[in-house]
Amino acid sequence: MERTIVVYYSRTGSNKYLAEKISQSLTCDIEPIRPRVNIVILMMLFRKLGLPIGNRRIKHKLIDYDRVILCGPIWMGQFICPLHDFINRYKNQINKLYFITCCGTSYREKDDKFGHEHVFTEITKIYGEDNIHCEALPIPLVIPEDKLKDSDLIMKTRLTDGNFTGEIQERFENFVKSELLN
Ligand SMILES: Cc1cc2nc3c(=O)[nH]c(=O)nc-3n(C[C@H](O)[C@H](O)[C@H](O)COP(=O)(O)O)c2cc1C
Repeated sequence: MERTIVVYYSRTGSNKYLAEKISQSLTCDIEPIRPRVNIVILMMLFRKLGLPIGNRRIKHKLIDYDRVILCGPIWMGQFICPLHDFINRYKNQINKLYFITCCGTSYREKDDKFGHEHVFTEITKIYGEDNIHCEALPIPLVIPEDKLKDSDLIMKTRLTDGNFTGEIQERFENFVKSELLN
């Protein structure tokens, strides 16, 4: 079994939920990223300007793990500061990287301005094309079909035991089985 650690940043809980699910499935270590400044608007501004905000030091020694699973959200199409600064700082200590995001845009919107595909491209540019796997488990997977146009509802919805069922659970279990447990 590969030695694995899950590292996550979560503002409102969905990516924390996902990170904990992965860590429970693999029985592996988990650690939150703690940004030096945790103010959304500042984090987005700094990212736009290409400036680092920086995070507190990660307590685990990442080089000791075969793979690092990074979980975190997308804001305004950005590969957000806490995640960006984490990769920039530790990329040389990460043997294999998985980036998993619970974001607001659906698979259908993945190539749009705010979609997850741009973020996947950006993270690959920083980390490199080898030994990386990116995956999205978007919030719309837990929204009923007839409410998928309700952007307020999508922004307010968080992953919980109550809604982590059906397609999202199936995709999560397939991902864990095919990518992480093989
Ligand atoms: C300010 C803000 C901007 C957002 N912009 C995007 C976006 O551009 N693309 C997207 O897919 N989701 C976007 N979202 C939705 C979040 O990615 C989504 O709610 C995510 O699940 C939140 O994760 P968390 O609960 O772990 O913080 C945005 C959310 C916020 C608060």
